[in-house]
Amino acid sequence: MKFKPLSSVLGIEVSEVDVTNLSNDEFTELRMRWVESDGLAVIRGQTLTPHTQTEFSRRFGTLFGEADHFQDSVKPFLHPEYPTIYRVSNKKNTDGEALGRSRAGSYWHSDVSFRKHPAMASLLYGIEIPPVGGDTIFASQVAAYEALSPAMKTLLSPLDAVHDFRVAAQNSGTYATADLASGDFDGQNSYVHPVVITHPESRKKSLFVNPGFTSHLLDFDPTESAGLLNIVYEHSKRPEFNYRHSWRTNDLVIWDNRSTMHLAIQDYTADRYMHRSTVVAGQPAR
Ligand code: SIN
Repeated sequence: MKFKPLSSVLGIEVSEVDVTNLSNDEFTELRMRWVESDGLAVIRGQTLTPHTQTEFSRRFGTLFGEADHFQDSVKPFLHPEYPTIYRVSNKKNTDGEALGRSRAGSYWHSDVSFRKHPAMASLLYGIEIPPVGGDTIFASQVAAYEALSPAMKTLLSPLDAVHDFRVAAQNSGTYATADLASGDFDGQNSYVHPVVITHPESRKKSLFVNPGFTSHLLDFDPTESAGLLNIVYEHSKRPEFNYRHSWRTNDLVIWDNRSTMHLAIQDYTADRYMHRSTVVAGQPAR
């Protein structure tokens, strides 16, 4: 295996590797380098079936679709034989049925942050990629936290924020009413997390609020909360904290939702078809 940095703030590109055929020592090294890079790995040229992707993803931990479940509106987009695989796509079958969730993640977010146990790693495998467009931007929330002024770190560190799937469902414009299920709003898709969390392995601090799913800061007046979150978001999306991934067929990208947030750019009309497996995290803590 070879490793090289993806950007000056986060990520590694891993080459000379077949993720379906890694010894325990090799997997441990890959995982360690991924954590050290603040949670982003690009591995090109992989050949993965839903089965081998699930097997590899399980090495990171328990998957959504196994012990824990995605929100109800995602269920139609799970792979019919592998409920651990979430299909992200703008494609339709010949009957006009969606083959995946279109426009998934077209707002800055960290996956499933509205759950008590949000997503730890997400592993997205590119099967069909448009000739142009369809990039995904990742922003290091470790770099964003570290670049805050001491006064802002002191202000944000003791705060808690409510995360709620409703925010994306109602505000992003990417969920049609028909896509939403009543179970989406039964209480399991809303949770309070610290605004600044400590990564359980690297012990680095990161910002853990995102425009996609964070509803408000606890104990603040709504206008104050919106104003303060807006300042944080303007900072946390800054280009110097970003890596922009231009997909190629057979790319596997693995990100850590506790130290990054991401945005899928909706600037394409050609077919895009991806398989995502998502690892369940422990409860984020300060
Ligand atoms: C996601 O947010 O998981 C989807 C990212 C992408 O489609 O690039």
